[in-house]
Amino acid sequence: MKAIIDTDPGVDDAMAIFYAASCPEIELIGLTSVYGNIPVEMGTRNALHLVEMLDRPIPVAQGLPKPLRGRHWEPVHWIHGEQGFGALPAPAPKGRAVDSPAVDFLIDQAKRHKGELVVFPIGPLTNIAAAIERDPEFAKNVARIVIMGGVVHARGNVTPFAEANIYNDPDAAQIVFNSGAEILLVGLDVTDRTSVTKENFAALARRAPKFGGFLAAISDFYIDVYLGRGAKGCSLHDPATVIAALRPELFRIEEGDVEVGLDGEKLGQTVLKPRNGQKTRVCVAADYDRVVEVFLDGIATLG
Ligand code: BDR
Ligand code: CA
Repeated sequence: MKAIIDTDPGVDDAMAIFYAASCPEIELIGLTSVYGNIPVEMGTRNALHLVEMLDRPIPVAQGLPKPLRGRHWEPVHWIHGEQGFGALPAPAPKGRAVDSPAVDFLIDQAKRHKGELVVFPIGPLTNIAAAIERDPEFAKNVARIVIMGGVVHARGNVTPFAEANIYNDPDAAQIVFNSGAEILLVGLDVTDRTSVTKENFAALARRAPKFGGFLAAISDFYIDVYLGRGAKGCSLHDPATVIAALRPELFRIEEGDVEVGLDGEKLGQTVLKPRNGQKTRVCVAADYDRVVEVFLDGIATLG
């Protein structure tokens, strides 16, 4: 499968990118950055650093800096750290982003690999919605969009109703859910019930010193946020998208139309309604322990 990860890296974004790179089924043909956890320029720099760690010629295209319709957005440095990689200092990548902006890059790659490209948005859906608005064929050209975002039966993480990626740009989310694209949604119903502890990461660092060691280092600060809320470890939000795409048998999936709350206290809410034309598949439960194991085993193969 050819894949592009649209990302705001971000601690769990780094986990997803490395996990995808560990999967022989996936050919990672690009990363597109977006604002979200951090400002977009920081996300581009962090994405370049991850690609250089992988030592693969994966292009990085810089995406949009703010929500589509001018809504307010703030970075969450208190969760992902000042520079997006926990307490680690800003990386200094040698390479630079490609000249093509993320939206053009997404449109071009979807045309070139019509019916083959899976896009994994693991930040706000701004770049994806902009691609859909600019190119009416984009939603048909992509094989699938596998999104980390939303929550349909459980509680949100920004408000009681909303998950961060959807909350940051609900207008974009609505455009994506109404686009006719084949969509798989992996939200907090699943991801908030996965948990990786500091001990898990320490063991991973012993198995895979370079990649596991890096993830252990950046997650330390991130896991402290979870420990402060009474959890034992951090959630595997973003990597769960890649696992759901490759291992659907580990997930329970419901289908329907997803409607997005666009104002008031329900801003960013994702409601799963009986199917009425559109079809979104939503992961609502999983074999959580297996998801964690599959993730750790995948990273371990990277070394
Ligand atoms: C999502 O929001 C971001 O903070 C994470 O990287 C993840 O994509 C979880 O709600
Ligand atoms: Ca993310």
